[in-house]
Amino acid sequence: MPKQPTDSLNADRSSLSHRIRYALRHPGRIGPYVLRSVRDLRLRLTHRDHVSYYRAVMASDAARDPKAAVGSHNEERWLALGAMQFDYLVEHGLKPSHRMLDIGCGNLRAGWRFIDYLDTGGYYGIDISPDILVAGKKVLAERGLQHKLPYLTLTQDLTFDFLPEGAFDVVHAHSVFSHSPLDVIDECLAHVGRVLAPGGFFDFTFDRTEGAEHHVLREDFYYRTETLVDLAAEHGLRARFMEDWEERPHGQSKIRVTAPD
Ligand SMILES: C[S@@+](CC[C@H](N)C(=O)[O-])C[C@H]1O[C@@H](n2cnc3c(N)ncnc32)[C@H](O)[C@@H]1O
Repeated sequence: MPKQPTDSLNADRSSLSHRIRYALRHPGRIGPYVLRSVRDLRLRLTHRDHVSYYRAVMASDAARDPKAAVGSHNEERWLALGAMQFDYLVEHGLKPSHRMLDIGCGNLRAGWRFIDYLDTGGYYGIDISPDILVAGKKVLAERGLQHKLPYLTLTQDLTFDFLPEGAFDVVHAHSVFSHSPLDVIDECLAHVGRVLAPGGFFDFTFDRTEGAEHHVLREDFYYRTETLVDLAAEHGLRARFMEDWEERPHGQSKIRVTAPD
């Protein structure tokens, strides 16, 4: 399987030895890492389930900078990451007439491009963070896309129980499972088949490891490809590793899931 460096694919970022080596290479990052660890520990102690914890992480990050909260530390990178998602999906089957569900839509880094491209009402974004959805509405207004009437909805889980059966040609989750424990991904895969239209597909990215699966601060989760492919199969879905996504300058990998006809 291509392209990321073997060192990075085998690293266990949660191990003490990795953290010491990393700190020696990047001494300037020790202070911010310690502050983040202390904040996250406090948030984990005050929020029992993962979604509530991660919502609190997003509230804290978005209060500082919504663009950084979705992982882009400047405007240029935010625009580039949105364009990368958009271009890939258009090259891989998205049509203006499609109805799209964007799970973890964030502040519409890619969402504003999908909204612009899709027919009116074709975009449905959901997120667990009210703060990032408010930031997303601001982006929508700045881009002058109000007339496209997208749906932007807060969710607590990924059961999609408020959405109709077979509603979406395309479901998309970029940089969401990279922040999700396996039970959240399992819940999503258990229910996504119900909301997919016949012939529809679900693309998601994930942080890939070829070594031990691990997480860092319960913020970043690393999975083996076969874990996610097998999980999809348990829910009657076919999953395919998207080799050509690896050519794009992005640290995560991508899987496409389809429901059998
Ligand atoms: C790194 S950001 C990516 C946002 C957007 N997909 C993009 O690429 O710009 C991750 C987003 O997923 C949301 N999120 C995390 N876990 C989620 C979950 N279980 N269900 C829905 N959204 C989730 C976060 O609140 C955040 O807005």
